[in-house]
Amino acid sequence: MSNTSLIRTHQNELHVEDVPLARIAADYGTPCYIYSKAMLTRAYLDFAAAFPERNVLICYAAKANSNLAILNLFARLGAGFDIVSEGELHRVIAAGGDPRKVVFSGVGKRAEEMRAALEHNILCFNVESEPELLRLADVASAMGKRAPVSIRVNPDVDPKTHPYIATGLKENKFGVAFDDARAIYRKASALSSIQIIGIDCHIGSQITDVAPFADALDKVLTLVDELASDGIALHHIDLGGGIGIQYKDEVPIALSHYAATLNERLKGRSHQLIFEPGRSLVGNAGLLLTRVEYIKQGGARRFAIVDAAMNDLIRPALYEAYHEVVSVAPRAGESTALYDIVGPVCESGDFLARQRLLALAPSDLLAVLSAGAYGSVMTSNYNTRPRPAEIMVDGSSTHLIRARESVQDLYAHEKMLP
Ligand code: LLP
Repeated sequence: MSNTSLIRTHQNELHVEDVPLARIAADYGTPCYIYSKAMLTRAYLDFAAAFPERNVLICYAAKANSNLAILNLFARLGAGFDIVSEGELHRVIAAGGDPRKVVFSGVGKRAEEMRAALEHNILCFNVESEPELLRLADVASAMGKRAPVSIRVNPDVDPKTHPYIATGLKENKFGVAFDDARAIYRKASALSSIQIIGIDCHIGSQITDVAPFADALDKVLTLVDELASDGIALHHIDLGGGIGIQYKDEVPIALSHYAATLNERLKGRSHQLIFEPGRSLVGNAGLLLTRVEYIKQGGARRFAIVDAAMNDLIRPALYEAYHEVVSVAPRAGESTALYDIVGPVCESGDFLARQRLLALAPSDLLAVLSAGAYGSVMTSNYNTRPRPAEIMVDGSSTHLIRARESVQDLYAHEKMLP
């Protein structure tokens, strides 16, 4: 899937599936997020088909995009879910997901979150520290239950990605240090309210080279063998998420190459494999549609001021992330200029894209591509800006899957002093 697979030009107008983007703008307003049901479905089914000979569970990382319609779509296709909060657990259940296919990651699980997850009989807790293990043992024991557990190990491999989204390095807060893992497993095996079922690692996000995955798996497998010699047999190996997508000119890892690399190392082992893909399932299946309000010539740069801002898509501001920006109705033959695409928020960091060659005029529609992952979920209300609407396209139909917030929604929970 490329960064432009979501869009298609028909009669000089961009479409998602069979729906012109201009029609969505007219019906639902801008800014709005738009997803393709067909693309989401294909991304999931492609992943599921990559390991035909193995017992695989795909636990979609809900954090990438937790809209109920998207969770429900994946649940119907058979997905499990990777969650990082009680909130995500309730979303998954509300969307018809099966809690028995849920793995619970995250370094800061609170006791009440553990309780909720145990009540719903989730598949596995991915435990990230010894104190967390001890707390989980206490919580489970008080409930008369055994908590199913994987230890998340930190294999200390460099995923060569943006430092904010690398998680498997020694200096990161995630997982237990590789050298401590065996001892923690031994401790876990002595706790009667803990049931060890697997091992877990997640080394980072937007990874475009297969080598770090291979290195991480090699390390995990050494540990699996050491544990076996300690009498600790594991049922599953969870390799996390992290497969990168194309935003600009990246060449993403082909799923077949990823699968072959892992399979080669897993020969002769019958463990179930769990994956936690987020971005690779939703990233290129969504875009942010925005309208040009003003064209402004500054002292040094030319700006297209649009109605979406950093509160609607924070990735450019936060990670200097690149998102392709395309005109919905390209002005063929008109002169182009270099534009910074910026929002109305009062911050110099409020940009969606910089120095893009486009032919633009006020009221033009722009599509900001590759916005399906970590887009809507990272929105905020900064500057009292309502979150955008979200629309799912299915063939020639559109469905509003999240209504645009109203301004009143934004202060509904606030109170003035008596
Ligand atoms: N599993 C765990 C434990 C994770 O922490 C993550 C992502 C995933 C799975 C899914 O990774 P993916 O397949 O999506 O790479 N906001 C950042 C990305 C943060 C990723 C956090 N963890 C961004 O916009 O690039």
